[in-house]
Amino acid sequence: MLIKPPIDIAPSGITSEAAFHARRRFVKALALGAGASLVPPGTLANAPYEGKTSERGEALTPEEIITSYNNFYEFGTDKGDPARYAHEMTIEPWTVEVRGRAEKTGKFALEDVTKGLVEEERIYRFRCVEAWSMVVPWTGIPMAKFLAQFEPKGSAKYVRFTTLHRPSEMRGQRALFSGIDWPYVEALRLDEAYHPLTLMVTGVYGKPLPNQNGAPLRLMVPWKYGFKSVKSIVQIAFTERQPRNTWNILAPQEYGFYANVNPEVDHPRWSQATERRLPSTLFNPNRIPTLPFNGYGEQVAELYAGMDLRRYY
Ligand code: MTE
Repeated sequence: MLIKPPIDIAPSGITSEAAFHARRRFVKALALGAGASLVPPGTLANAPYEGKTSERGEALTPEEIITSYNNFYEFGTDKGDPARYAHEMTIEPWTVEVRGRAEKTGKFALEDVTKGLVEEERIYRFRCVEAWSMVVPWTGIPMAKFLAQFEPKGSAKYVRFTTLHRPSEMRGQRALFSGIDWPYVEALRLDEAYHPLTLMVTGVYGKPLPNQNGAPLRLMVPWKYGFKSVKSIVQIAFTERQPRNTWNILAPQEYGFYANVNPEVDHPRWSQATERRLPSTLFNPNRIPTLPFNGYGEQVAELYAGMDLRRYY
């Protein structure tokens, strides 16, 4: 996405001096980027990400990998299927239905549930239960702020998120032997959803979320395995009882409700002690140790105080 600098920006009565100078710097930066012929086309949008790292100094995973190596079974089980087929999903208009234990329930247009909420950029480690991982600059709305607008009632203890179910546009949902009982559902305890690290993601690398990554709204809980971060959300339900979640229904011995990243609790078929940080190749697998709670233990461990995490996996 190339942003054209405006030809002339004059300080108007409504622009503060500081904002005016900030804009001048922005326009100058754009002009510099555009003028430097050594910069290949398309790099301008990425330029602000050069040298950016996670809070631990880890390099970002390239955008091309984040948007082409995906799990989104609604479009097929191959890692390349979502990038190949997710454009078949219509995301405009988009409606979110809110139900259950909340004061404000009903069907809402996407514009109405995001209106007035400020998006933030968060660079998070993202660890799949399959033992690969990335470092991703997500854009999103803190989930606590997103959910608060619906005024959950005191009796709400959990929140369940449901993906779009539209077989006409999602070839994986049309497949005869998919195994998954569509739609894909995931859930969190309400205190997990309200944790400041939890995001309702709307974008990646400073751009709107591509369909294959779960446009226009997807969950991000960076201390949990990736399957918790349900994509293309059309329904949010506040419940009293713990909902079932898709992978737990499919294989309860392998996937639990909590799914906190835990190097000490192996998947029954493979170890969770290490992960392949993408980009990873046969010759350079880039295998690194997996951290408890994916490295966010300091912030989130207290949510699970006193719980046996081997039992609640
Ligand atoms: N959400 C839906 N609706 N369908 C899916 O198949 N896969 C999950 C999660 N959310 C999935 C989903 C899994 S297993 C992972 S690892 C992440 O999405 C992958 O997110 P990414 O493709 O943006 O990396």
